[in-house]
Amino acid sequence: MKKIIIAIDGHSSTGKSTFAKSIAAVMNYTYLDSGALYRAVTLYALEEGLTGKDGRPNVRELVNRLKDISVTFRRDPITGRNETFLNGKNVEKRIRSLDVSQSVSPVSVIPQVREFVDVQLRKWGEKKGIVMDGRDIGTAVFPQAELKIFMTAPAEIRARRRYNEMKAKGEDASFEEVLDNIRERDHLDSNRETNPLVKASDAILLDNGNMSVEEQMIWFKKLMEEKWGITLK
Ligand code: DC
Repeated sequence: MKKIIIAIDGHSSTGKSTFAKSIAAVMNYTYLDSGALYRAVTLYALEEGLTGKDGRPNVRELVNRLKDISVTFRRDPITGRNETFLNGKNVEKRIRSLDVSQSVSPVSVIPQVREFVDVQLRKWGEKKGIVMDGRDIGTAVFPQAELKIFMTAPAEIRARRRYNEMKAKGEDASFEEVLDNIRERDHLDSNRETNPLVKASDAILLDNGNMSVEEQMIWFKKLMEEKWGITLK
């Protein structure tokens, strides 16, 4: 079968990356995390002092500095995981921290930042055979994607999952903080002017509030069988 582009969009902490990685593994495709680019740009802004005390970016300065930012991904030979590098430095862990999560929405609303990220995402998509997750992949980055899935789940369920994940990693945050952050990001993602989070009309909705990862993969394999006649192991 010819290689396609699979776009996975949806609300934050719906497990898009876990799902997209599992799909990439069964399809033998490359996985790309578009949120990691927004997070890396945000980390750059924080580290370079391009944000105010409230964590909001100084837009003009950050836009001027975009040319100095290089984000790449490398596979860790031991874990097999894709890790994010900002100007040559491994920032995979750092970009997932709460301070970056709290500052990423105001950075990702800046149209020039979106353009900067989109140019790179489209380059990676040229060869097809990719699964990319984000907020606007099926609507703005690859509107021509052959398969689009839109993921959602109730905010409390998403916050509980994220909170458990953070606790397991030894990160310090209360459930309320995590829930507030998710609600705020939902609001900002869905209401920004440039490419807001919205389900593409041709995207298939997946509400995974009551689904395990295994159940989602069964759902996906059934979809591939029905839609494309492809049987996946
Ligand atoms: O998926 P994530 O939580 O790692 O994404 C981090 C932020 O980046 C999220 O708050 C919204 C933004 N984002 C975006 O605006 N568009 C994308 N395609 C991916 C992420």
